[in-house]
Formats: sequence, structure tokens, C-alpha cells
Amino acid sequence: MTVSFDFTGKTLLLTGAAGGIGREITALFYDAGANLVLLDMDDAALKDIAAGHDPAGERIAIMKMDSSSVADIDAALALAKDRFGGVDYLMPAAGIYPEQLVESMTDEQWRQVMTINLDGVFFLLKRALPIMRDGGAIVNFASLAGHRGSYGHSHYAATKAAIISLTKTLTLELGPRIRVNAISPGIIETRMTGDLLRTRGEQLVSSTPLGRNGQASEVATVSAFLCSTAASFVAGEVIHVNGGLFMAG
Ligand SMILES: NC(=O)c1ccc[n+]([C@@H]2O[C@H](COP(=O)([O-])OP(=O)(O)OC[C@H]3O[C@@H](n4cnc5c(N)ncnc54)[C@H](O)[C@@H]3O)[C@@H](O)[C@H]2O)c1
Repeated sequence: MTVSFDFTGKTLLLTGAAGGIGREITALFYDAGANLVLLDMDDAALKDIAAGHDPAGERIAIMKMDSSSVADIDAALALAKDRFGGVDYLMPAAGIYPEQLVESMTDEQWRQVMTINLDGVFFLLKRALPIMRDGGAIVNFASLAGHRGSYGHSHYAATKAAIISLTKTLTLELGPRIRVNAISPGIIETRMTGDLLRTRGEQLVSSTPLGRNGQASEVATVSAFLCSTAASFVAGEVIHVNGGLFMAG
């Protein structure tokens, strides 16, 4: 797929950078000239990604971190400020998707998903604002699950519904300085959906009007659109990237 953007001189800070979607966002933004601050728990993967794109470390800075840790977030933001003077685009993409029915879910299991998928996003968004440059953009990662629920993933779906709501309130509070939008991916082939695809893959494809699952690169292009000047009047929007599997009213 050839889609070109120009983010020369702009800086993207991305959590979950070693994930399936994070890797594609990294590749697209790096090729488009951006500086990148890549954050994830998986240090080895971060090092591989950085070495693959930017062995000299000129436009990519990496840091192993837990996106739900305030101390780690503070350190990551200090890195972004030190290396690139601030942040233009912010994408909290780190997330977990464990399976557990409500009946047998422990309070700890519920809390862990809230902590990583929701608290961590708030901790980062709030703390990044002082170093975000005017005209910047935030792209949040919601999910199909946040709109219609998800069997066996009540905690995950609840956090993603909250992200949709948070996106709208942030739009009200941060405009016109910063645009805020969200992407709701459907079934995208990454490590996150591996188990789901093994058990329900065929059924999901047959329910998808486009007749296939999505690729991470197809989420990355939408994230780039939302940061770009092509989306200069798009704010508070939630863009579904799901091949028609779910069509919001
Ligand atoms: N893949 C899909 O179909 C799909 C669908 C809807 C929404 N999403 C959302 O898109 C985003 C990216 O998903 P993906 O498919 O790339 O998932 P993925 O599992 O491939 O990647 C997630 C990344 O987040 C990192 N991570 C998890 N917890 C972390 C923590 N506490 N601190 C730092 N890093 C942490 C993991 O190490 C991993 O690299 C997530 O927010 C996810 O909920 C994905």
C-alpha cells in the first residue's frame, strides 16, 4: 500500500510500540520523517525495531517502561523533551486483552486491565500536555469491544468504552490547541488477537463485509491521517477500522 505523509520535524510519542499496530505506526511515521519516542515493556523488541529503522539513533529514542507507572511515564516524557524538545503527536497504544468471564473474574484481574488500559492512558495524557506543542494531535486506541461489548472481555470492553468517552471530553478541553481523536480497530491480525483468531477466526471473517481481517498497517495509515493536516478539522471522532464488521449508528 502506498500512502505518503510528511511528518518531518514532528515528534511522535507512542506506547505499545513493540506491538503489532505499534510497529506499523513506527514504520510509517519514521518513513514520513518524524522523530519517534518508542515505549514498551519489551526492551529487546524495542531495540530490534530501533536498529532496523535508525541504527544511528538519530530520530528514534526508546525506553523500556510500564505504561501504568507514573514514574516511568515521567521518565519517558523527560526523554522526549531532552531528545526532541517536546511532542507533537501522542498515541497511548499499549494495552492488554485477557479473557475471563465476569462470573469467575477476580477483582485483581479486573483491576489489572483498568490500570493498564485506562489509568495508564490518563496518567500519560495528563502529564504529556505541558510538553505537547500547539497544533498537536492525540490518537487514542479504543476498540470494537468498547462499542458493542466483547464476550469474555468485560474489563477490556469497559476500558475501551471509557477511552471513547475520554476522547470526547479531551476534545472539549484541549481544542483548539490539540486535536483529539480515537481509532476503534475491529479484528486486526496481531499477537493480541492470536487466540481469538484461532478459535473464532473463520466466523469473524464470514461476518465481515470486506471478507477478511485487518492488517496493522491499515490502522497505522488511519493514525497518520488523524495526525496529518488532511484531518485538520477532525476532532472528537472515533474512526472504525473494521471492514464493516460493526457499523455504528
Ligand atoms: N489487534 C486488534 O485487533 C485490536 C482491536 C481493537 C483495539 N486494539 C488496540 O490497539 C492497541 C494496540 O494493539 P495491538 O494489536 O498492537 O496489540 P499487541 O498485543 O500486538 O501489542 C500491545 C503492546 O503493548 C505492550 N504493553 C502491554 N502492557 C504494557 C504496559 N503495561 N506497559 C508498556 N507496554 C505494554 C506489549 O508489550 C505489546 O508490545 C491496543 O490498545 C489494543 O487494545 C487492537
